[in-house]
Amino acid sequence: MRASAGLGNADACVLFPFGWDERIVRRMTTITPQPTLHTPRLTVRPYVLTDAPELQRLAGAWEIADTTKRIPHPYPDGAADIWIAMQSDAWETQTAASFAIVDRANNQYMGGIGLSIVSATVSAELGYWLGVPYWGRGYCTEAARAILSFAFDALKLHRVAANYLTRNPASGRVMEKLGMQFEGVQRDGSLKWGKFEDIAVCAILEAEWTQLSNDLPPDPGTFAFTEEEVAAALAQSMSAHEAAALAKDICDGADASTAPSGDLLRR
Ligand SMILES: CC(C)(COP(=O)(O)OP(=O)(O)OC[C@H]1O[C@@H](n2cnc3c(N)ncnc32)[C@H](O)[C@@H]1OP(=O)(O)O)[C@@H](O)C(=O)NCCC(=O)NCCS
Repeated sequence: MRASAGLGNADACVLFPFGWDERIVRRMTTITPQPTLHTPRLTVRPYVLTDAPELQRLAGAWEIADTTKRIPHPYPDGAADIWIAMQSDAWETQTAASFAIVDRANNQYMGGIGLSIVSATVSAELGYWLGVPYWGRGYCTEAARAILSFAFDALKLHRVAANYLTRNPASGRVMEKLGMQFEGVQRDGSLKWGKFEDIAVCAILEAEWTQLSNDLPPDPGTFAFTEEEVAAALAQSMSAHEAAALAKDICDGADASTAPSGDLLRR
């Protein structure tokens, strides 16, 4: 567990004196450490330094650099360690929430996903990539749904945007499946490797996400609550010790039949 050096609420109010800004800062400072999210097939968790070799290997593929903004190619030795080391600071200063996408069946690191947070507009930009061997199996959409749930339900963001090169329809399709709305094209909005390219902008607002979530059929096996949040909810009806043990079983085992009902977990 990492210690939190986040802003206290008093400091946050001085820096962000208005309601919305204060709201997100307060939310992030109370969610410490950065949580792990669970989906049926994935664990979406904070990075650890031991992810560095796989991060370098998978992100080092040309196909990843080709359609992402900042991933270099070739991926320099040591860069993964430096980037991972910066992520806990980014969480604590409320500027970003970066997560490793891991196969929950075998703990294999598969890719990365995260939010760049703009407190001033209570919004974030979603970014993601998945190692080439794992493409085309719905993993990115599954991880991104957990991140959107975290962004709106836990961080209380108002808007999450994302953009993709118009020649990268797979990423556009992920955004579409997430329920994001297409907002337009920035002509020559990207400059990478000396080449300007068009980027499409998509976004989803908190009210749209809530509406979509309400419209979805109940799926007790899919929930993006952290183990700590599940334990806190269960502790309303059992001892803290029992709640912690059951929350661990639920989050580790993905046993839908023992997952708490939506009512219990509703905020
Ligand atoms: C974009 C990326 C993350 C998608 O990951 P993924 O796990 O394969 O995505 P999903 O399986 O959840 O969804 C991909 C969707 O795109 C569709 N798709 C794939 N290639 C496509 C193409 N050429 N044209 C149209 N749709 C395409 C898939 O069929 C799927 O849609 P479906 O479920 O309706 O069939 C992955 O390709 C990647 O890492 N690319 C390189 C990095 C990158 O571009 N990151 C995004 C930067 S904006």
